[in-house]
Amino acid sequence: MNRPEWLARLTQGRPTMSAGEAEAWRRLEESVVYFGGKPVGTVASMDRAASAQNYDQVFTRDFFVSAVAYLLRGDFEIVRHFLTVTLDLQSAERHMDCFRPGQGMMPASFKVSGEGDEERVEADFGELAIARVTPIDSGFWWLYLLHAYTRASGDESLAKSEATQRGIRLILDLCLPPRHEMLPTLLVPDGSFMIDRRLGVYGHPLDIQVLFHIALRSADGLLDAPADDPLRRAVREREAHLAHHLRTYYWLDMAGLNRIYRYEVEELGENAANQFNIYPETIPTWLFEWMPRDGGYFAGNLGPARLDVRFFSQGNLLAILGGVADASQAEAIIQLFEDRRDDLIGETPLKLVFPALEGRDWSLMTGSDPKNAPWSYHNGGNWPFLLWQFTAACLRVGRRAFAVEVLDAVEERLAADQWPEYYDGRRGRILGKQARLNQTWSIAGPLAARCLLDAPDKIDMLTFGEPSRPASCDAGVLAGAGEPADTRGEVQS
Ligand code: GLC
Repeated sequence: MNRPEWLARLTQGRPTMSAGEAEAWRRLEESVVYFGGKPVGTVASMDRAASAQNYDQVFTRDFFVSAVAYLLRGDFEIVRHFLTVTLDLQSAERHMDCFRPGQGMMPASFKVSGEGDEERVEADFGELAIARVTPIDSGFWWLYLLHAYTRASGDESLAKSEATQRGIRLILDLCLPPRHEMLPTLLVPDGSFMIDRRLGVYGHPLDIQVLFHIALRSADGLLDAPADDPLRRAVREREAHLAHHLRTYYWLDMAGLNRIYRYEVEELGENAANQFNIYPETIPTWLFEWMPRDGGYFAGNLGPARLDVRFFSQGNLLAILGGVADASQAEAIIQLFEDRRDDLIGETPLKLVFPALEGRDWSLMTGSDPKNAPWSYHNGGNWPFLLWQFTAACLRVGRRAFAVEVLDAVEERLAADQWPEYYDGRRGRILGKQARLNQTWSIAGPLAARCLLDAPDKIDMLTFGEPSRPASCDAGVLAGAGEPADTRGEVQS
């Protein structure tokens, strides 16, 4: 079936589809990029009024959102082609020199140029991006998409092919070698994921850790290898340790705040309770008022004497989908969205990071970046593409009505505003200062959310079964000293 026929069938098949939704599908279709006559991805934005910069490229992380919408609609072809084109682009040679991608890296974006025999695909691994940021998330999104594609389509041939198995192993080789670290988290530079500018998200930012965990879980299911294969065992062990670490040390709620508030500092040795030597004075006072009684969330970053308590929506929502959050943590995160609705959902869901960096913090942590001014863009702006993650996470914890309410309230407004890339302001009331219109993931995010609400069973393609739990997970020094996660709800006297 060709694509216009597919679109016609889609809209006919759903007589209740609103005008805004039908228009959104049409726009998504317009964003499709072809290579060799086959659909291979969607461009980042179709804003004809703004200069293209690199928004005319297919971004791996942006396409994931389009792919979820397509998979939910039963259109597998474009996703399969995207996976194979990016697999061909994966950096397969060993490079040690500057500005060349390490072996196993997946591109941040690609572009199709030329025509006929001259037609070619050019990849960008960040070497052409502003500030030359490294897209560490690309390989993780790729693995997650391969997992979702395989589950949704039932086609195992792509995952099992020799080329794909090699690609999976190359990504894992990049993440699992011996390191100068003893934590299961991944050490990354600033701007290495969706937040691709300086924002104090270097070190061990939550979004990357949770995506890493999802990538490991995807690889575990996709690797064509016996359970005792050394790489497979390494994947399972790291995945379990990582989940344990995040659940235990990143989790914040009233009980945790009470504990941190009364922490001893400068503790040596194995029995230190304050493992990262967090000074209680560094916890901002607003948080003691803001944290709801029944809510909680994963902190944005953790390192020596560093606990970034900003709330990152993507990391927290993906923690629910990938299973980093246990059942009560998952409920607590959605409860937080409900209790702090004005701050986290506002008028145009959802806040990417809360709160914004302001004053000297903004100046020092963003390098005085005017695009990331307080309550704008990454620094406290609202991003509609997150709606698919929010809806999926709500469904996961049985809060469908909440997801319906949030989506119903914004769908028509997004269409009327022509699906801006982001909104600014504390409540996301105003169009983002430099936001593009017809931003593809702002179109695809709400569409995917609507599809999920129509067919909630399909959420399975985005989730995983029971996590692995090697015995060694509880024995390490990490598990020994900190308060275990299951003391939530207790208030220490
Ligand atoms: C911006 C976003 C990035 C996105 C790109 C294309 O740079 O920060 O996450 O992938 O635009 O939409």
